[in-house]
Amino acid sequence: MRLKGKAALVTGAGGGLGGAISKRFATEGASVLCTDRDLAAAEATAAAIIETGGTASAFMADVAEAGDCEAQVAETIQRHGRIDIAVNNAGVAMHRLALDTSLDDWERVLRINLTGSFLTAQAAARHMVAQGSGRIIQIGSISGQRGNMGGMAYGASKAAVMHVCKVMAVELSGAGVMVNAIAPGPIETGISSHGPTRKQGYIDRIPVGSYGTVGSVANAALFLASDECEWITGHVLNVDGGYGGAGLSYDSAEITGNG
Ligand SMILES: NC(=O)c1ccc[n+]([C@@H]2O[C@H](COP(=O)([O-])OP(=O)(O)OC[C@H]3O[C@@H](n4cnc5c(N)ncnc54)[C@H](O)[C@@H]3O)[C@@H](O)[C@H]2O)c1
Repeated sequence: MRLKGKAALVTGAGGGLGGAISKRFATEGASVLCTDRDLAAAEATAAAIIETGGTASAFMADVAEAGDCEAQVAETIQRHGRIDIAVNNAGVAMHRLALDTSLDDWERVLRINLTGSFLTAQAAARHMVAQGSGRIIQIGSISGQRGNMGGMAYGASKAAVMHVCKVMAVELSGAGVMVNAIAPGPIETGISSHGPTRKQGYIDRIPVGSYGTVGSVANAALFLASDECEWITGHVLNVDGGYGGAGLSYDSAEITGNG
């Protein structure tokens, strides 16, 4: 068991990725505090873990509220004895053109995706620094690496989330706390209700030729949460079927070998 004896906080644990990450951690021996602003959804994840013999509990936390960001860290320690892993996964999507993005839209998305994730990482890091160990995982997005149409507030929030990871990694590197990020590509969950044109556009640009699965992100999170993740900090791990690394793709039949 790769996380035996560890206590983890997973935000947005009632959703697709957060649920899968929570369950994956639990199968590797971690006790997990599953938090979400949707308490019933967090409870469903915790119940599924307990049903299969794992240890988990649920807590209502809205990461748009600074007090909730602190409270979920304190609750992890109170219920599970310590905090070794914090996954800042809670997030909302917004598909809106830059010229149509209101100040309210902008502030709402940045408040949840960026400020909530920073404040939770900060609160968790204070305990991890004191205990001399910890793993923080920020969930970014390929939308924070490329300029998608309609991706103004969401993309900016995710680019900043991935930058938070780099700065915290540098600042906490002497304290045994590794801070990394995952940039998922498109995965079918509550957040990603992509229409057929967008979906085909992604599939055409992803070398592997398909959407990812919540399991692919959970496996990456497991590695970054484990003791195997040593001497790796400030890294953004793309889990995207090759999208981020690919150049202009051609049908192999077009490659003649003549330059
Ligand atoms: N699914 C994808 O294609 C994809 C791609 C890249 C990044 N991501 C990121 O992955 C993370 C998880 O998304 P998902 O795909 O599982 O979507 P999801 O909608 O299934 O889950 C998101 C969860 O976050 C919770 N949440 C939203 N606002 C919150 C708040 N203010 N406080 C606490 N909880 C809140 C929701 O209740 C929900 O349970 C998000 O940060 C998202 O931006 C998803």
